[in-house]
Amino acid sequence: MERVSLLGKQNPTLTLTLAGALALFVFLVDSFGHYATAIMVLYSIVVMLAATVLSSRGTLLVAVACIGATVIGHLIGHLDEETFSSLARATIACFSIVATTALTLRIQADSVRLAQQVRELNRTHEALNRSTAELAHATRVTMLGELAASIAHEVSQPLAAITTHGEAGLRWLRRETPNLDEACHAFESMTSNARRSSEIIRRIRALARKSETVFAPLDINGIIVETIDLLDREVKKHGAVVKMDLTPGELTVTGDRVQLQQVLINLAVNGLQAMSSIHDRPRELRLHTRVEEGRRAVVAVEDSGIGIAPEVASRLFVAFFTTKAEGMGMGLSICRSIVEGHGGSISCVSPPQRGARMQIELPIA
Ligand SMILES: Nc1ncnc2c1ncn2[C@@H]1O[C@H](COP(=O)(O)OP(=O)(O)OP(=O)(O)O)[C@@H](O)[C@H]1O
Ligand SMILES: [Mg+2]
Repeated sequence: MERVSLLGKQNPTLTLTLAGALALFVFLVDSFGHYATAIMVLYSIVVMLAATVLSSRGTLLVAVACIGATVIGHLIGHLDEETFSSLARATIACFSIVATTALTLRIQADSVRLAQQVRELNRTHEALNRSTAELAHATRVTMLGELAASIAHEVSQPLAAITTHGEAGLRWLRRETPNLDEACHAFESMTSNARRSSEIIRRIRALARKSETVFAPLDINGIIVETIDLLDREVKKHGAVVKMDLTPGELTVTGDRVQLQQVLINLAVNGLQAMSSIHDRPRELRLHTRVEEGRRAVVAVEDSGIGIAPEVASRLFVAFFTTKAEGMGMGLSICRSIVEGHGGSISCVSPPQRGARMQIELPIA
């Protein structure tokens, strides 16, 4: 049977030395002390100490040895006693050792079972985490497919700018008197647009990649701006405008860039979809950030859409719950597992105006 320590982490050698010393002490006092005491009962403590570091078989052997020592001690030290009191004491001590051993072995067996259950629970937990990550990746790829038009637009913008600046640069050079300053300026613009396009491709590839979670300090305000850039076309398609009210400067949290971006995209797309049937008021997607109690970053994504009916509110984060004909119902459920994986929380709070407001709270780095 597997060894499970009942007292948690400890030094086995020290514990066994202590148990041995106690057993020797009891044996010497019992055999040669000529005291009419039931000191042999202390063998029970020897058994308990041994059980904390030995397997059940080892514990059993120690118990047998203690009973043997009790009998030998009785034979050496108390056989000449006139009364039966010595025999009675030895018998009680043996019973006490047997009872302690039985109880200890039972506890040991329970501890082994418990340890096995904890291990199984950990394995299940890890498998669940892996499945959640795979699901998050699958929905991210689906989401990228849905945002294909926005992505293509985002990538083609700097590419078009590179062509325009390249042509302008060539024109400056082909003049009778080439204007080198203007040409340099045009080529610098080309370079910066090329950098921008490779940065956009890098970000999109990161979203599509199946990668391990990487926690690092991140500026959540920067991620919001990046996400809205990516969704620019989507926002326009829904006839909406974006309003941002972000804390001045950077707002640093510890997190995985791709995962947090996925949360923001899910919330923003939900907001845009909720506004597509609104005609009597402006379609506004509002993003706020603020710091609460100096230790929590609060990000709110608010829309002026259809709002959330009370009977729907309690099921928003349930996997596969959707009210949309083409929805999968996984967006918010994934948002919740990502945010909770970051030590934060997500909730649907009452919006100040008509529409919906989803709020994320993350610990500040
Ligand atoms: N901003 C919002 N306004 C109104 N209802 C919302 C809003 N966000 C979410 N909901 C409701 O919550 C439901 C679940 O949203 P969730 O993002 O999890 O799934 P979905 O958008 O239906 O599908 P998908 O998996 O494609 O995201 C939606 O179907 C919708 O009814
Ligand atoms: Mg959604």
